[in-house]
Amino acid sequence: METAIGFIGAGNFTEAMIRGLRAAGIDGGRILATTRSRFDRVERFHTTWGIVAVRNKADLVASAPTLILAMKPQDLKDAMAELSPLITDRHLVITVLAGVRCATIEGYVSGAPVVRAMPNLPMAVQASTTALAYGRDAAPEHRSAAKALFALVGDTFEVNEDLMDAVTALSGSGPAYVYLMMEALIDVSLQVGFSLDTAKDMAVQTIFGTAKLVKETGADPADLRRRVTSPGGTTAAGLAVLEERGFRAALIDAVLRATERARELGSR
Ligand SMILES: NC(=O)c1ccc[n+]([C@@H]2O[C@H](COP(=O)([O-])OP(=O)(O)OC[C@H]3O[C@@H](n4cnc5c(N)ncnc54)[C@H](OP(=O)(O)O)[C@@H]3O)[C@@H](O)[C@H]2O)c1
Repeated sequence: METAIGFIGAGNFTEAMIRGLRAAGIDGGRILATTRSRFDRVERFHTTWGIVAVRNKADLVASAPTLILAMKPQDLKDAMAELSPLITDRHLVITVLAGVRCATIEGYVSGAPVVRAMPNLPMAVQASTTALAYGRDAAPEHRSAAKALFALVGDTFEVNEDLMDAVTALSGSGPAYVYLMMEALIDVSLQVGFSLDTAKDMAVQTIFGTAKLVKETGADPADLRRRVTSPGGTTAAGLAVLEERGFRAALIDAVLRATERARELGSR
């Protein structure tokens, strides 16, 4: 990333992304952030990561050729009332807003190229899964710039924008599903007598190692599952309970419902 990047909004997303960018070696002087009311948060980002805290949108837009819209979808309209007159076709506008289409952003930023990204929380440790979709004015150089930016904080993949709500529900919300599973594993470990530290370490390392094995070997998860399941054994007994209680069906329904919700939020 050669140019400065400006975050508009200083919430959980911005915090995770800044952390990931700084860990990737991006100079704090090239990262700018502003927000609506909680300027103390931007000041904390400055103190913690050495980024540039900017009080108003006009100064940020003037200094950052790449802009990241990082407010909640319901705050977009108010934010754009201020931003629209400031953004030119020399800016690259990246939106991470769940459910909001590139065309909606294009309606606010006449001529500026728009890229829609859906990263997830592990971006803070450079292990994000980021899906990218491109607006009508995003030329190859804008596409590769956006891709390179998110590649600094993890893996990227390109999707047709019609699949973005599903991405939001899968990899965007996915960490929450895995955290829920982690919580349940910790709860049961405590119930059977492990200390909290051990319970947490076991749950985290089990999930981490499981994902790492698939990632590094490219193996099929279903094959790996069969390999650790001897007929009549302990894993088979545990899996039978999960299937009986609808674990797989519940996860599928969760993703489908979250996809619908992303659509509903985007159309408000
Ligand atoms: N959290 C994630 O991991 C994640 C992942 C992918 C995508 N996203 C997307 O990222 C966006 C932000 O999510 P979040 O979790 O970071 O939300 P959040 O913690 O609620 O932060 C939202 C930020 O937007 C600011 N804001 C609101 N209206 C504004 C305006 N008019 N001008 C400037 N700043 C404004 C808020 O400012 P004040 O608090 O100062 O008023 C706040 O700093 C959402 O659209 C979400 O879909 C989040």
